[in-house]
Amino acid sequence: MSDDAGTGLPGIVAVCPTPHDLSEAAASWLARVSEEAREEHGYFAVALSGGNTPRALYQRLTGLPYVDAVAWPTWMVFFGDERAVPPDHPQSNYHMAWEALLSHVPVIPERVHRMEAERPDREAAAGEYSSLLADTLPRGPGAAPRLHCILLGLGEDGHTASLFPGSPALDVEHRWVVPSIASYEPRERLTVTFPVINAAEFVAFLVSGESKGAALRGVVEGTVPAARVSPRDGTLLWFLDEAAVASMQHSR
Ligand code: 6PG
Repeated sequence: MSDDAGTGLPGIVAVCPTPHDLSEAAASWLARVSEEAREEHGYFAVALSGGNTPRALYQRLTGLPYVDAVAWPTWMVFFGDERAVPPDHPQSNYHMAWEALLSHVPVIPERVHRMEAERPDREAAAGEYSSLLADTLPRGPGAAPRLHCILLGLGEDGHTASLFPGSPALDVEHRWVVPSIASYEPRERLTVTFPVINAAEFVAFLVSGESKGAALRGVVEGTVPAARVSPRDGTLLWFLDEAAVASMQHSR
């Protein structure tokens, strides 16, 4: 992987010819990172993202060699955000991850931690998930819970997780999970905050397609929420396909 592959993006950038190649590169990398975490810590704490691009990665992980090679029982699965819908709802990030990955691999059910964004009291649900992170994970920079890895998508407006342009959630410094509002349905969400994202050991964006050019340019120019992702003691990676990079250059 080159440093920024000429994109100007911060961190390490892998430009892959196709969405399939992007999922393959990300799966290979994630399998390696999870094995390193298992060797060093005995477990792998990862926060999954919603979205179509992350889903393609999850589906790839259910294939060989990963379905057999990854030490799935050592995975501690969290979520970066969730919509205020039931866990069996087609627009639930948990539902998507369950269908695409978790139901196909031997993760330990008690180690899969769903965000209960559908609860009427989302503030209480946010507080409980914040406590779960704080009680389960070591403290990282800024005293935020430190994940081994957080996977992120990038919206066309430059949002990531459920941190949307103009949201008060963008400026939260001392809470780990908060309610937020999306610019599209389902609007009501729960999301991790930037302190948690930036405390992770690895932060990996998965960005595919020509519709993401303006958002990627916004990251470089610092004009979109995802530009605030800057691991304080960790590594930022971008898995991009050529269509996303090409559209980035056209969005100048
Ligand atoms: C969500 C995701 C969101 C997603 C981006 C990119 O709950 O929708 O967390 O941040 O990752 O919108 O999604 P695509 O990869 O489908 O474009």
